[in-house]
Amino acid sequence: MGYKDVYEHSLADPEAFWMEAAEAIDWVKKPSKALFDDAAPLYEWYKDAQVNTCWNAVDRHVVSGRGDQAAIIHDSPVTHTKHEITFAELQTRVASLAGALRAKGVEKGDRVIIYMPMVPEALEAMLACARLGAVHSVVFGGFAAHELAVRIDDCTPKAIIAASCGIEPGRVVHYKPLLDGAIEQSTHKPDFCVIFQREQEVAQLTEGRDFDWHAFQYGVEPADCVPVSGDHPAYILYTSGTTGAPKGVVRATAGHLVALNWSMKNIYDVNPGEVFWAASDVGWVVGHSYICYGPLIHGNTTIVFEGKPVGTPDAGTFWRVISEHNVRSFFTAPTAFRAIKRDDPEGKLIRDYDISCLRALYLAGERADPDTIEWAQKIMGVPVYDHWWQTETGWAIAGNPAGLEALPVKIGSPTVAMPGYDVQILDEGGHEVPPGTLGAIAVKLPLPPGTLPVLWDAEARYVKSYLTTYPGYYETGDAGMKDDDGYLWIMARTDDVINVAGHRLSTGAMEEVLAGHPDVAECAVIGISDALKGQAPVGFVCLTKGVNRPHEEIARECVSRVRDQIGPVAAFKLAVVVDRLPKTRSGKILRGIMVKIADGQDYKMPATIDDPAILDEIRTALQGIGLAK
Ligand code: COA
Ligand code: AMP
Repeated sequence: MGYKDVYEHSLADPEAFWMEAAEAIDWVKKPSKALFDDAAPLYEWYKDAQVNTCWNAVDRHVVSGRGDQAAIIHDSPVTHTKHEITFAELQTRVASLAGALRAKGVEKGDRVIIYMPMVPEALEAMLACARLGAVHSVVFGGFAAHELAVRIDDCTPKAIIAASCGIEPGRVVHYKPLLDGAIEQSTHKPDFCVIFQREQEVAQLTEGRDFDWHAFQYGVEPADCVPVSGDHPAYILYTSGTTGAPKGVVRATAGHLVALNWSMKNIYDVNPGEVFWAASDVGWVVGHSYICYGPLIHGNTTIVFEGKPVGTPDAGTFWRVISEHNVRSFFTAPTAFRAIKRDDPEGKLIRDYDISCLRALYLAGERADPDTIEWAQKIMGVPVYDHWWQTETGWAIAGNPAGLEALPVKIGSPTVAMPGYDVQILDEGGHEVPPGTLGAIAVKLPLPPGTLPVLWDAEARYVKSYLTTYPGYYETGDAGMKDDDGYLWIMARTDDVINVAGHRLSTGAMEEVLAGHPDVAECAVIGISDALKGQAPVGFVCLTKGVNRPHEEIARECVSRVRDQIGPVAAFKLAVVVDRLPKTRSGKILRGIMVKIADGQDYKMPATIDDPAILDEIRTALQGIGLAK
């Protein structure tokens, strides 16, 4: 069957489609059916099954004869080390870690926060939780203590597993002081912490609370896989929403297993035993789905790459990793390619490596601009497939199903909807618009397996954020259109979420931090176009009456405040003091127009604007920091 038949079958008979896909998973107790819709519009998949994720990602491959195959290759140019872990070794290591966690009281359903850099131990920690049925929540290393504290209070973990440090080019990221700071700030306190000490920095352990990763495993009984029900949360992953409070996306166990396993062959076109590489970070959804779970569940070797596309040591690193480890399919964010192109515009470094093992490049996480796609295609000589998805969905909403049927690429489009996703473009009234017309992108409910069933401890927020604007649909938060061939075109977010270097960030969260500055009366943060990172945040602050300190000093304080409270990942480097913000007569800040001014685009003066002269003031302020023409 080609794509069209498979897709139509998935919508016409989801029950048959997803029960068939479920056969690739090892069940302790098979599901009696796929979809459970009795609580619609909340849906569950394979709810009455019993299953274990770690068994499917690790143990079953040892049983089926893959014990000696590399499960994980750690390639770390920042520490100048490389090593492999086989499936058999992974099983021993994960069972031991899970046993040690259980000996300290971690049980099915308990939450465990993982705060680690790109080391195999991060995956082992995730898998050890999965082995016990504990619910992990990985926090990206580029977030500051405050963001970690917010997540601790939201998911109330019994334990936190962290590394002593991470390594960014040119600096060591001291995880332990960040962890200590977060626990000090949070209301909820974990029972204990496990610290993986790295050679580059040995952290001071807090007596009675912190345990050394190796020492706490001595003499413990390794743990077997604990069966959980199909709807049991496999993990919580926080992502940015409109406000400062991040959304805890829940991933249900069984749907996650089935959907990721299906995607490995049909989308990424890899067979078990082959090497798959996603250059992202375990702190993001791409890292969860395609560094850890997807490849391992499918019996692929995964690469944990601790480095950057450029500077570790040069723009040829990706080519080295692909050729050295025989990578078949490679997945990264367009920003990485823009960075390589900037350093090596003619792609000279690729000539030093034989990358003939590679079949395709997959891009996602942000809009893939045509220049970058064309450049990548030209220098790599393989198809470049853009695909579109979100933390919430956990796998591609739209993509090119290369393993099923490679469809013609239209540059600028992530191709077509994947099975189970009935993607529609809606107008403001919730009616489907004709092809070629821009609208809100929504997915008719139910979403397929693997997607979020709810937000952690926030069902009402889930319903309000995603299911209310268009009853009967999931609102993606993206705007775009479909063309006559059913290809999707993703244009922009419809909310205050921006995308910086493939990292999803909330301007609302940054505004909350700026508003906390004692001299700031009012503020706005917008995302302006950035040639490397896609977008970059810029903050505008109006000062409280009577404050007459130098504006540059206040702007600098604003920049360090965002770095201290949200983290370096916010890449918040530009703030400017203005007298007033442009608003409508009803008081809504005109952020969209501010973006257009910053980007040097034309705009239409809104009829509802309170005072058009403010726009000139904004332009002058932006020019003062080297933006806007
Ligand atoms: N831990 C701690 N700090 C981190 C971090 C981590 N895991 N990841 C990033 N940071 C820091 C960076 O060091 C940087 O700090 P600085 O302000 O002191 O320089 C800051 O966060 C911003 O990072 P980033 O936006 O990534 O910019 P960069 O200049 O360091 O790197 C690229 C630019 C293009 C090389 C980098 O963004 C990249 O590799 N992008 C690929 C995109 C990607 O993998 N996205 C993941 C989603 S699929
Ligand atoms: P995240 O949840 O961090 O994966 O971010 C998801 C958001 O990133 C989406 O809602 C889009 O706005 C954007 N995004 C992801 N992939 C693409 C893509 N291929 N094209 C355009 N935007 C994308």
